[in-house]
Amino acid sequence: MRQNDTTARIAHVFRGTFVHSTPRDAVEILESSVLGVDDEGKIAFIEKDEQLVSLSKIWGFETSDVKQLGQYEFLMPGMVDTHIHASQYSYTGTALDLPLLEWLNTYTFPVEAKYKDLDFANNVYTKVVRRTLKNGTTTACYFATIHTDASLLLGELTDKFGQRALVGKVCMDCNSAVPQYKESPAECKAETDRFIKELLKKEYPNVKPVVTPRFAPSCSASLLSELGEIANNNKLHIQSHISENKEEVELVKTLFPGCKSYTDVYLKHNLLTDRTVMAHGCHLTDEELEIFHETGSAISHCPNSNISICSGMLNVRNVLNHRVKLGLGTDVAGGYSPSMLDAMRRTLDTSKALTIQDPQHQTLTFEEVFRLATLGGSEALSLDEQIGNFVVGKDFDALRVNVCVPDGPIDLFSDESPKVILEKFLNLGDDRNITEVYVSGRQVVPFPDT
Ligand code: GUN
Ligand code: ZN
Repeated sequence: MRQNDTTARIAHVFRGTFVHSTPRDAVEILESSVLGVDDEGKIAFIEKDEQLVSLSKIWGFETSDVKQLGQYEFLMPGMVDTHIHASQYSYTGTALDLPLLEWLNTYTFPVEAKYKDLDFANNVYTKVVRRTLKNGTTTACYFATIHTDASLLLGELTDKFGQRALVGKVCMDCNSAVPQYKESPAECKAETDRFIKELLKKEYPNVKPVVTPRFAPSCSASLLSELGEIANNNKLHIQSHISENKEEVELVKTLFPGCKSYTDVYLKHNLLTDRTVMAHGCHLTDEELEIFHETGSAISHCPNSNISICSGMLNVRNVLNHRVKLGLGTDVAGGYSPSMLDAMRRTLDTSKALTIQDPQHQTLTFEEVFRLATLGGSEALSLDEQIGNFVVGKDFDALRVNVCVPDGPIDLFSDESPKVILEKFLNLGDDRNITEVYVSGRQVVPFPDT
């Protein structure tokens, strides 16, 4: 318990079952407990509920204000989507019939070019932020497009709806089949500077810029260097894609003949830091994973996308064995679902497919996948000092889950343990079961206007 001081006041107290991950336990279930949130949105205490009366005296709240969770309810940490293209949300669930490089030129770049139009951007960005929040994504690491003003608008909307976000204005100066959908290197640098400066100037408490070279084939060596410098000078996050499909890996070899590997391309341009998250990584070698470990860079595992556009299957167990930070991503719209529950399920499917291929492979458990979607994601984004689990002093980003909502997707039978209830939610649940969402102590779902 944190010591109370005269300034901290309690904004919420919940009583019931809390489910989260710790570095030691993939799932820790705390029954008959109480959790308090202070008026700065931080977790003030998490204790057994027999302490309730004494906590109410120390912290000065009324026990009648405590929110009691029902028998089939629990609180869990908000989910962290470590890789999602907000700009591709308009065609989610379609256009999954081409491999990556053709998919980009045929579907993606023509759609992303439309974000010059701020009305178009406002419509799609409002919908993706609301949809992901409703599905329990309290933190999203977003790709926008090359357009600075539309990317700033995405930042404004995440702040307005209360989602924690890293927002990236996409940088690309070559190899686009859509001539108007790329920038000159000078324009790209100037617009990236403007994007970062303007977004930081807004002082949104939970929204920050992320330096976003699209991927090596879209960027000249000089652009990659500029972006490495901008990120390092300003201590900013970096996001990109790496080793998603084999054709792309071969292309990078021909475009960067002086580099030993795809990973070496980013390493040489100072883009691998402990604030870097690279999506996919399906075809990374063990040697490359060692570089990820040494630099503290993370991988975003996007299994729906990896299967949907036939890119590959990441061996998450091998990545974890290399002690590389790893979170999950939806990768909308290469992935067809904006839900992190889907990302967890597809992570298990891929792990099981790897076991079918090789019975020696150690399949991931649902508990481990729960950790990857919460604490793992926070580590991948280097936000684990702030979010990821229920630890005193961290921000309260949480979901209230009810597995027994009327007309819901889950049937329960007698005497099911909290662990079984969690497993059913992870495998069968959807947004109907996520009845409340909190970010930094603020209730953001249900939406205030509904
Ligand atoms: N590689 C470069 N750009 C993209 C993108 O938009 N989606 C995916 N899945 N991979 C990429
Ligand atoms: Zn992506």
